[in-house]
Amino acid sequence: MAIKKMTWRSLFPSCFNPKSHNLDSTSQVSKQNSASRISLSDISDTGSSFCASDLSNSKFASNLHIFTLAELKVITSNFSSSNFLGEGGFGPVHKGFVDDKCRPGLEAQPVAVKLLDHDGDQGHREWLTEVVLLGQLRHPNLVKLIGYCCEDEHRLLVYEYMARGNLENHLFRRYSSPLPWLTRMKIAIGAAKGLAFLHGEEKPVIYRDFKTSNILLDSDCNAKLSDFGLAKDGPEGDDTHVSTRIMGTHGYAAPEYVMTGHLTTMNDVYSFGVVLLELLTGKRAMDKKRPAREQNLVEWAKPYLKDHHKLDRLMDPRLEGQYSSEGTKKVAALAHQCLNHYPKSRPSMKHVIKILEPILKYTDIPAGPFIYIAPTEEKMDRTLSGCKETDEAKLKENGNEDKREAKKENGYNRRRKGYRHKHRIRSHAVYSDTALYKTLRNETKSPGNK
Ligand SMILES: Nc1ncnc2c1ncn2[C@@H]1O[C@H](COP(=O)(O)OP(=O)(O)OP(=O)(O)O)[C@@H](O)[C@H]1O
Ligand SMILES: [Mg+2]
Repeated sequence: MAIKKMTWRSLFPSCFNPKSHNLDSTSQVSKQNSASRISLSDISDTGSSFCASDLSNSKFASNLHIFTLAELKVITSNFSSSNFLGEGGFGPVHKGFVDDKCRPGLEAQPVAVKLLDHDGDQGHREWLTEVVLLGQLRHPNLVKLIGYCCEDEHRLLVYEYMARGNLENHLFRRYSSPLPWLTRMKIAIGAAKGLAFLHGEEKPVIYRDFKTSNILLDSDCNAKLSDFGLAKDGPEGDDTHVSTRIMGTHGYAAPEYVMTGHLTTMNDVYSFGVVLLELLTGKRAMDKKRPAREQNLVEWAKPYLKDHHKLDRLMDPRLEGQYSSEGTKKVAALAHQCLNHYPKSRPSMKHVIKILEPILKYTDIPAGPFIYIAPTEEKMDRTLSGCKETDEAKLKENGNEDKREAKKENGYNRRRKGYRHKHRIRSHAVYSDTALYKTLRNETKSPGNK
């Protein structure tokens, strides 16, 4: 069946008046199915002259809410520093709260509001890509876009709030408690499912920026992919690849893509291999502070991946030996395959999931020291009602600390260090592999699960 090529002009016929659809349920647009999904390549047909605000009258996308800047200021307490979650290349991200007073039918929930803080065509395109793509694609392992704001030169995105922030902070921040082995595997599987969904679409999507900072975690450590600004439609028809400008993140991008600009879904598989390595080793993909031969994680780790006897030397010391040896062998072999120099020799993301899922059931994990922390009476209530509040506060603190660290090169704060140490022990006990293992076992045993 011939697919009619749609252009942005034909999709968004009228121009925009932000005031006309404030607080109006008509600002919700209905979901389109995958077959009629608007291609991202249509965006590049139009250039920066495209009136993005025409989005409001478009037929595509799911239930996106259109917010005004004034509303988002209220939601985030005027983008106050106490609500600051972090900052990336796009701009700062703040926590906020929405409910049906804000929009009829809008579920009361915390949100993350991302603000594009620079002008220019590239930032605008990334914003638009994200709205178009996440407006149309929904999956448990993709972060949910709730809405957006497009007012004058302001471009913002409103996402579901992910209570545990990004994987990068959990793996590498000095003060974060170490992620247990099974949690790492659960995260790898969730992220793999997100990629597999994108690649398995009728019109496959190449994510192009797979890395630990773009994997967000909810309160149960379920992984969701965020940041779709660099995503691209995969090759169509007889094409083997898409030719693009080389964009992405150093250390994660596949070598053939860096050399030629040729983009395929296999580039994402390579980046997935890099993240698997980071999960195993607790080391960053690229780190200038390491000795010259170790700066590039893939180059350093590849010889170890091939030799089972050397695997222990590769593993993150913060795991303290508490990981499945059998599982590690499987993950190392899989990472080696994903990092294959020849894209065609890399596995599909579907295959990756097939290899990873059984590893959650491996029981050859040495038991760690039992840590009991006697709660004070005052803390008892909070402990019984779960750890969400404490961890949320801790993660927000982490985000603010990152900002401070970025701004002050010598941002070492003795008082804070003591504070975090206390949390570290507590959090380590709460997120033991044993607890996760029990949950997983119960889940597999329950009759509804096959
Ligand atoms: N939906 C969300 N819920 C909670 N925190 C979020 C959410 N989205 C982003 N963040 C946090 O905001 C910070 C900035 O995110 P952002 O994606 O803009 O940049 P980044 O991924 O750190 O860097 P890059 O620009 O390279 O992607 C990160 O610390 C991230 O954890
Ligand atoms: Mg990001």
